[in-house]
This record gives sequence, structure tokens and C-alpha cells, in this order.
Amino acid sequence: MNIDIERQTNTPLKEQVRLAIAQRIRSGLLAPGQRLPSVRQLADQMKISLVTAVQAYRLLENDGLVESIQGKGTFVASPQGPNNPWINQNSNGLHLVHQEMPANPFDWQLTIKDYLPRASFWSQSAVRLPPGILDLATASIHHSLLPLSLLNSSIQQSLREYSSSLGSYAPFQGDPEFLKVIVDYLKAQDLPFETHQLIVTNGTQQGIDLFARTFLGPGDVLAMETPAFSGSIDAFRFSHASIQPIPLDQDGIRIDILEDLSTRVKIKAIYTVPTYQNPTGAVMSLRRRRQLVEFAEQNDILILEDEPHRELTLSRRNVMNKLPPPLKALDMTGRVVYLKGFSKFLFPGLRLGVIAADGTVYSRLLAAKSIVDLGSPLWLQKALIPFFKHSQLKSYIRKLNQVLVDRSDLVAGKLFAKLSPQVHWQKPSGGMHLWLTLPPALSADSLIPEAHHRGIHFLPGSIFYPGEPEAHHLRICWTNLPDADLPKALDILCELLNQSV
Ligand SMILES: Cc1ncc(COP(=O)(O)O)c(C=O)c1O
Repeated sequence: MNIDIERQTNTPLKEQVRLAIAQRIRSGLLAPGQRLPSVRQLADQMKISLVTAVQAYRLLENDGLVESIQGKGTFVASPQGPNNPWINQNSNGLHLVHQEMPANPFDWQLTIKDYLPRASFWSQSAVRLPPGILDLATASIHHSLLPLSLLNSSIQQSLREYSSSLGSYAPFQGDPEFLKVIVDYLKAQDLPFETHQLIVTNGTQQGIDLFARTFLGPGDVLAMETPAFSGSIDAFRFSHASIQPIPLDQDGIRIDILEDLSTRVKIKAIYTVPTYQNPTGAVMSLRRRRQLVEFAEQNDILILEDEPHRELTLSRRNVMNKLPPPLKALDMTGRVVYLKGFSKFLFPGLRLGVIAADGTVYSRLLAAKSIVDLGSPLWLQKALIPFFKHSQLKSYIRKLNQVLVDRSDLVAGKLFAKLSPQVHWQKPSGGMHLWLTLPPALSADSLIPEAHHRGIHFLPGSIFYPGEPEAHHLRICWTNLPDADLPKALDILCELLNQSV
């Protein structure tokens, strides 16, 4: 087993080992009943002390993820408990691994070294949820609310009009006609870009990855707002740059901390989600946006601005245009790389996003795109041309806003009425997430097994931290469940949290 240990952070080694093994278990990489390395092997492999290895296994045992059997070793516990054929219960109710468990033919693979860094988002997304569980984790719009018939007719129309073009690759930056409709769409949202600034990507995640692989490497410093979208943490870790977490206040990423950091190290890039931040829902003020761009100019820093939630304003009047402009609109010197995603208010399954950049930053990102996948699928871009041109898209977004306002009122009403005041939260003005803060001694990770037992799933706050995790937060997303299930899921959540605080 190859675990990336970071010795320069404040996170204790036992916690790092615990987190890495927990993620491998939750994602199914390590299967129930599988024997884990002995304490001595773990200590040797990780170059940690025996005491640290024992402590890490003990923590995992407390989490209910592993079971130690005296004289036999440490094994991955069963999520299903007594129904798992390899597990028996002893008199204390502990699940014990059946002694005649056959050898796992893939065990040898644990000796293959891989180069994957800690990938919390992937492992959380790959958690195999028991059937019927109410998912408060996935950040997307429930499919019943999406403009499926408009998409359908757009695809039919484009197949008639464009099918001959499918015999070619798309230009690396994207199909020119598609780029033109995207530019028109963005202009209508007050995002003034031109086609020569855009590159079509397979989702925003690819934009983050292209930025990381192009501009970040060992020795570089990335300052990252924290807590942060965990998929970005994973992508940045892959670059082996040093990630410096920068806290947020009510106005956004803290400039005073960035200034202090820049007296000690050369910051190469800053990552931020200024509008309806994931996971907190915060909006960076206009003043802070100006300060941030100015700070980047004075210190020769690139900014990666990730903005997938701008359309999701929670207001009965459409105030989207009253949001502060994106950092990119304040940037006159090509320092800001802007990512626009279409997964959050449209279809995550389409894997669609765009990058906006200038100068050689643009051409270097385009070179990376050409290497990674030779351009995004042409058929998809053609299929979406009628979709983005259609006037119904605008009315869809307007209607979606109204539905989401009702939903967010419902969520806030439930939490006000039912949730203990010891759990702190704020009603966001947009986006799809709600960030809950428990008393500091409580870990949201430790509540996950009981949450699953009661029938709900949420994301523990720890996965949103690139450095030392704060375990007493959790993130729920309230847009992904069908209408009928949302109140029930919130009732279960309130009950669980009230009993835990
Ligand atoms: C801030 C942020 N950036 C990027 C992404 C990834 O989105 P996409 O589906 O466009 O790759 C997400 C998804 O949750 C997100 O919240």
C-alpha cells in the first residue's frame, strides 16, 4: 500500500494514515474482510513509528472501518455487518472476520507503487451507498427539474444539420460555431468574453487539471482558499506543488494572510471560487475582488477563478446581474484564468465547461488541452448549438431559480425549527450547498456510518481541507433529491445531529 505522507503539515501522521486507509476502504479499493498490512509492515512501508501505526489502526477501529483480531491481524470491517458471509459477531457484538476466508487473489496488487496522491473527492464520490439512501451529498440539480425536452429536441435538430461534421475532430479550442453561441450566452450573463479567449473543456474539473498540469510543479506554491472544493484539492495535489491553505472571512479569501504568506514564499497561483463558494456558499465582496486582483498584479501571481454557480442565485427577483463581476472582468493584464462550468445549473452528465484566458497563458493551456484529449467531443458541441441559442434556456434558468428559492426556504425552515442551536449554519444567497458547523469536539466523519444506517448521506467537512482538516463541519446539498424526499432527509439529519451534539 502506497500512502502519500506529508511531513511538512500540522496534520499528525496517525491522522494522515487513518484518512488514507479510510478513504481506500470507503471507496471499495480495500474490500471487506481484506487483511491489512501488519502494524510492523505498515510502520516499515510508511516510515512511521510502530506507535503511530498502532494509533492509526486504533482510530480506524473506533471509526468502525477495521477490526483487529488478536493473533490474526487487522482486517477491513464489513459495512453490512452480520449479513456479510466473511464476518461473524462475537459476544461483544463486534464483527469478526471469518477464519476460513479465502485469500483475495488481488492482494498482491497492494505492493504496486502508484503515483496517486490523496484523492478525497474521488473516494467520497465512489462511496457505495446502500440502496434507497437519501443523497444529501451530490451537488447537482434533480433530473426532473432539468430542461430535458429542450436538450432532446436540440440533439435531434443538430443530428439532422451537422451529422456530416462528426467525421472530423473538433479544433482543440472548440468548434467555432459552438464557441460563438457560448460567447453570446456568457454576454447575456454579463460575462464579456470573446471566442479567441475560450477553450471548451470536459467539465470544469478538466479546466482545473489543465491549469495545474500547465503551471504547477514541485517547488511551486499554490495559495488555496480553505475550505475548498475537494475535487480541486485532488487535482492540485497531483502537481506536487506546495498547497498553502488561506482561510476565508465574510468577504472572501483573506488578503492579509496572502500578504503575510508572500513575505515568506513566492506564491505562484491562487485558487478561488468567489461566487457561491463550495462548500460555504459565501460570495466574495467587490472590494475584496479588487484587492485580490491588485495583489496578484503587484506580486506577479496567476489567479484561477472557478465559477460554476453564478446562475444559481436564490432570489425571487433575478439579481444575478447584481452579483459582483467575476475577477476576470477586473483583470487587465491576463493574470486571471476563468473557469465556467455547466454542470451545476445544467447537466453534469454532459461534462461541459469553458476556460477563459489571455495571451500565452491561453496558448499554453490550449497546448495542454491538445495533449490531454485532442479536443472535446465535436458531436456534443454541435448538439448543444441549438440548445444554447434557444430562448427557452433563459426561461428555464428563471424558473429553476424560483424552484430553488422555495427549496432553500424549506431547508432553512426545517433547520430553524428542528436543529439544535449548537449546530451553526447560514442560509446562503445562492449555490446549492449548506455548510454546517458542529461543536469542535465532534467529528462529522464519525457520524457517517450512523447516517447511512438511518438512510442519509452527506459529505464530511474534512474532505474540503488541503491541509489539516477541520472535522467538525459537514456539507449538504439540497437540490439533488426529489421534492418528496427532501423533508424526510432533513428530518433524519436534524435528529442525527441533535442526538450527537
Ligand atoms: C467549485 C467547483 N468547481 C468545479 C466543479 C466540477 O464541476 P464539473 O462537473 O464542471 O467538472 C465543482 C463540482 O462540484 C465545483 O463545485
